[in-house]
Amino acid sequence: MAILRIRRIGICGTDLHAFEGTQPYFQYPRILGHELAGELVEADGADGFEPGETVTFIPYFNCGTCVACRAGKSNCCARLEVAGVHIDGGMTEYLSVPSYSLVHGGGLSFDELALVEPLAIGAHGVRRAGIQPGEFVLVIGAGPIGLGVMEFARIAGAEVIAMDLNESRLAFCAENLGIPHTVNARASDVMERLRTLTGGDMPTVVIDATGNLTAINNSFAYLAHGARYVLVGLQKGDIRLSHPEFHKREATLMSSRNATRQDFEHVIGCMKQGLIRPTTYITHRVLFGEVKEQFRSWLDPARGVIKAMIEIDT
Ligand SMILES: NC(=O)c1ccc[n+]([C@@H]2O[C@H](COP(=O)([O-])OP(=O)(O)OC[C@H]3O[C@@H](n4cnc5c(N)ncnc54)[C@H](O)[C@@H]3O)[C@@H](O)[C@H]2O)c1
Ligand SMILES: [Zn+2]
Ligand SMILES: [Zn+2]
Repeated sequence: MAILRIRRIGICGTDLHAFEGTQPYFQYPRILGHELAGELVEADGADGFEPGETVTFIPYFNCGTCVACRAGKSNCCARLEVAGVHIDGGMTEYLSVPSYSLVHGGGLSFDELALVEPLAIGAHGVRRAGIQPGEFVLVIGAGPIGLGVMEFARIAGAEVIAMDLNESRLAFCAENLGIPHTVNARASDVMERLRTLTGGDMPTVVIDATGNLTAINNSFAYLAHGARYVLVGLQKGDIRLSHPEFHKREATLMSSRNATRQDFEHVIGCMKQGLIRPTTYITHRVLFGEVKEQFRSWLDPARGVIKAMIEIDT
């Protein structure tokens, strides 16, 4: 095991929904926090890690022996325990984690390192899609998860189309992420716009990052023939699709769960190269002692939270 002194805690939808009591399968009491950066205090059996070093960690603790783990897919371990979800997480000054989960900070700041986990979710979804340069990739949902998907799709060479209902989030994609095409899902001519943007083909990759059942069901219609559809977003209902429409496209439907070390390293590598500047996602920042007063306000859509970051002072 390793002991971390936590310095940054990123807040995500899971934390907000858990606080509201609307996150499925959550058991209480639970200490939240899975987007973390800190200093390594002590590590047992962590080769190459030194006390005092800046680290993050992969908060999906896996069994190492199930069928998924044996296949290298520890991100979807049959007995997965996610810190801050299934077991207590890092909204605390010190946290002990399995040494195998540690990730070197690579010279990045605490803020950057606390953003690695949510970005790795997007990196994993993009890797699942197997994007070829020049492909039209439609990303639906421009929340923090969708933003990461868009960044890594762009880095993979895709022509990214961002879709959302929220104009200010679409504007953020255009201005801060350099996404060339944005489409409001409420527009009456969505199909036409997609057809025009893609030269008549429709997107060969569609990635859902809304977790909204209506959006997920509607998006089957956006798939090009031969396309892949990756569900990064998650919801509780049953998906509905037209079998003949899906069949004639020979489409592929995939889910994308969590991320692996390879994704974490890809994210860190892209940050080090300056290919992404995700600290622009941080819209709200508080000290640890202010969390209790501030947390509820981040649930209010009017506050325009993209990413709230908690700082633990020295
Ligand atoms: N794959 C994983 O392991 C993993 C990890 C973390 C989060 N998630 C999931 O990713 C999803 C996104 O997370 P987030 O934190 O970015 O959420 P978010 O709520 O901040 O963002 C979702 C975005 O989708 C947009 N949206 C909602 N309905 C829409 C519709 N019908 N058409 C177009 N856009 C629509 C919203 O306006 C919003 O901007 C959630 O479902 C979350 O559970 C998955
Ligand atoms: Zn998260
Ligand atoms: Zn396992």
